[in-house]
Amino acid sequence: MFPTHRPRRLRNHPQLRRMVRENILTTNDLIYPLFAVPGEGFAKEVTSMPGVYQLSIDKIVEEAKEVYDLGIPAIILFGIPADKDTDATGAWHDCGIVQKATTAVKEAVPDLIVMVDTCLCEYTSHGHCGYLEVGDLTGRVLNDQTLELLKKTAVAQAKAGADIIAPSGMMDGFVGAIREGLDDAGFEDIPIMSYAAKYASAYYGPFRDAADSAPQFGDRRTYQMDPGNGREALKEIALDIAEGADMLMVKPALAYMDIIWRVKEATNLPVAAYNVSGEYAMVKAAALNGWIDEERVVMETLTGFKRAGTDLILTYHAKDAARWLKG
Ligand code: PBG
Ligand code: ZN
Repeated sequence: MFPTHRPRRLRNHPQLRRMVRENILTTNDLIYPLFAVPGEGFAKEVTSMPGVYQLSIDKIVEEAKEVYDLGIPAIILFGIPADKDTDATGAWHDCGIVQKATTAVKEAVPDLIVMVDTCLCEYTSHGHCGYLEVGDLTGRVLNDQTLELLKKTAVAQAKAGADIIAPSGMMDGFVGAIREGLDDAGFEDIPIMSYAAKYASAYYGPFRDAADSAPQFGDRRTYQMDPGNGREALKEIALDIAEGADMLMVKPALAYMDIIWRVKEATNLPVAAYNVSGEYAMVKAAALNGWIDEERVVMETLTGFKRAGTDLILTYHAKDAARWLKG
């Protein structure tokens, strides 16, 4: 009798499919990004990201409650400051927007994990992720000087109550510097999730509208990774692990599934994937046109990240996914 092997036998009943399913997305896997702006009662939808808003802190708190009630364990906060300068003052000042939002959320929803993005691009007048040489118009960020600002930023965020520090600037030595800064300030128990393999990607476009953080000149190719490189991601994660990272992130996700897999194979640390703004915008645009089934596409994508090896997924779809998972 031919065929001898009939894999379809295990697909014939929904319950049977459920029994042999290898990877399952749960609400525990999700982290929801939020954008904090100054003001009160303010909510403005990001044009390129339908369903995503810039929110004043009172609205962030409302949103945090909703996220928590949906069973999502964590948010990640980004900030849009009132003023920007070359020292990224808004990033590391105790009254910085993310610090204030963190404290407000932790007061209102203490059991929600608050992660913070530790970078400077939202706070610098030129939109780069650190210090530039005076007169530089290329965006070649000064590495070691920038580490000092990142340290100060992480400590201010921890003081404000942040549970996890997530540095995203791709400076050499940033994990080690931040670890040292946190430890010296008495925050040795605050974990670091490093954006370890972050690529110079066009998929960040809508985020830069949301966070008002597009570089005013030049680009980020001297600090973020070249999309052509895979092995280099393993070098980046090895350095971050050596410097004390507790968790690792790969970003973007969709075009870098192989990197997620390779990173997962190479480490015992939890691995996160950032399902970035451009990936969200593509799905939303097609869904709003009626061209795809949004729920099925999103759930398939998020399950794909799990299959590729992610433990955690940062995604703008988190609230919808949590609702769909509830059924
Ligand atoms: C800041 C930062 C960026 C994103 C997360 N942190 C943008 C960038 O590097 O330009 C992108 C997230 C997204 O696109 O959803 N360095
Ligand atoms: Zn940045």
